[in-house]
Amino acid sequence: MKIAILPGDGIGPEIVDEAVKVLEALDLGIEMESALVGGVAYQVHGHPLPPATLKLATEADAVLFGAVGDWKYDQLERSLRPEQAILGLRKSLELFANFRPAICHAALAGASSLRPDLVAGLDILIVRELTGDVYFGQPRGHRTATDGHFPGSEEAFDTMRYSRPEIERIAHVAFEAAQKRKAAGRAGRVTSVDKANVLETSQLWRDVVTQVGLQYPDIALDHLYVDNAAMQLVRSPKQFDVIVTGNLFGDILSDEASMLTGSIGMLPSASMNARRQGLFEPSHGSAPDIAGQNIANPLATILSAAMMLRFSLNHESAAQQIEAAVQKVLARGLRTADIHSTGTVCVGTSQMGDAVVNAL
Ligand code: IPM
Ligand code: MG
Repeated sequence: MKIAILPGDGIGPEIVDEAVKVLEALDLGIEMESALVGGVAYQVHGHPLPPATLKLATEADAVLFGAVGDWKYDQLERSLRPEQAILGLRKSLELFANFRPAICHAALAGASSLRPDLVAGLDILIVRELTGDVYFGQPRGHRTATDGHFPGSEEAFDTMRYSRPEIERIAHVAFEAAQKRKAAGRAGRVTSVDKANVLETSQLWRDVVTQVGLQYPDIALDHLYVDNAAMQLVRSPKQFDVIVTGNLFGDILSDEASMLTGSIGMLPSASMNARRQGLFEPSHGSAPDIAGQNIANPLATILSAAMMLRFSLNHESAAQQIEAAVQKVLARGLRTADIHSTGTVCVGTSQMGDAVVNAL
């Protein structure tokens, strides 16, 4: 087993260090190799996704990723911005299926911005399509160097695009996830989110998801417009089981859902291709405002390492060990600043990682 470690920018290096600590404590004989990605890679190599980094990621069984991005790169031409690193990895490795669980850990229900009774026990899985949609359609704008220059242009556009096979494969992923969850006692329901009342891509999305759904008679399927879905998520989030949606809507809804759980700092994510190769990263971003202060929450990254063991490295028992260790640490009352409340103990990034290692 070989994994690529790509810490990236902002708090990335600190939180990834803690996840590596946890992986090393498990002593599974995983080979790890690090490389620069994002803004730091641009600074050293002139590109956010240098060829050597892409090669390492492509050849590894899995990628453990921190985060990319910093305001100091806002003026760069788009193709050189740190965000292009993660988009490039998703596209090159064909990581079309993004799993973003929103789980409310019992100990943290009080940290949610919603009433505890609305979120206690919350367990939603957002399945976001990750390599299509307006993210990868033809753009044109006054800063789009790849598309020629439009000096002084007062108009810009992006193209929202989906094809039937792209929708089919992500729909299958969502229905299969719902089946697995049903076997574990969940509702067995897929909610497909689109904007079919306005967008042609969404009409195709709805038709294809409906057709694929016929192959899964044990799973209930319903459809919501994205504006309604955004509203329902804060009105009564526990009505959802699996949500499947396109790249852009999934980006937005997954941030919304994550915050229902009390802290975006707790949530892992997995981006998978058809070969079980995956990129695992916290759902949150690079948080440059708190970088280097040893206050960031490393648990989302540690839990992403657990997902990596489960999804890409075939190590279910080790994944469960990490998840149990995190539960234990939370039950003991240890909290980083983002989830700290009265009656709990506030610890730093590295202390939290040490606590998880000790619990292991
Ligand atoms: C995410 C992020 C990325 C996205 C950015 C950094 C390109 O917001 O992973 O949700 O929009 O997909
Ligand atoms: Mg996002």
